[in-house]
Amino acid sequence: MAERYRWRPAPMTGWFDPGVMSQTAVMLLTANIFGRHSDTRLIEALGSQPQGAFDYSAQAGDFWVDYVADLGDGWNPTYAVASAMAAPGVHGTEPGQVLVMGGDQVYPYPSRDAYARRTESPYREAFAASARKPDVFAIPGNHDWFDSLIAFSRLFCRPERGFAGCTTRQTRSYFALHLPNSQVPTPG
Ligand SMILES: [Fe+2]
Repeated sequence: MAERYRWRPAPMTGWFDPGVMSQTAVMLLTANIFGRHSDTRLIEALGSQPQGAFDYSAQAGDFWVDYVADLGDGWNPTYAVASAMAAPGVHGTEPGQVLVMGGDQVYPYPSRDAYARRTESPYREAFAASARKPDVFAIPGNHDWFDSLIAFSRLFCRPERGFAGCTTRQTRSYFALHLPNSQVPTPG
């Protein structure tokens, strides 16, 4: 059976559910306490080869970037936004060569299953029906950080895996893109 049918469509997050509110408060408190003393980005920098800027400078013509953030709530609204980017002509928008996800790719807590149901499933469904396959880059938001980026890194920082049938390139939680008509500053 295709991977996309293994999960029920995720309902909207119950933000006023006392259980969700109290668990979110505990996670925020824990993240604040440990966040003062550790930064996963430092560990990433120690543990892998340098990650340079990803080069899109040779692309001719207009270069469009799609940007979406705060996306991983219920399946239906996430799919609605994903399908608008997967079929740009229908909605009068230009097709983006790159899709940047700007944070909170999942609500309320990150896990492998939550990302699968709330994030990748609607995007896979939307892009499966489209010839468009933008390269996907992701920046973590506070909800992605609640498990110290373990599930985020598995989903967005393994280029051999990809995301929802699209290419991913970053191996860390941050990235730089070399865009057309721009200079890359030399370090030093
Ligand atoms: Fe958010």
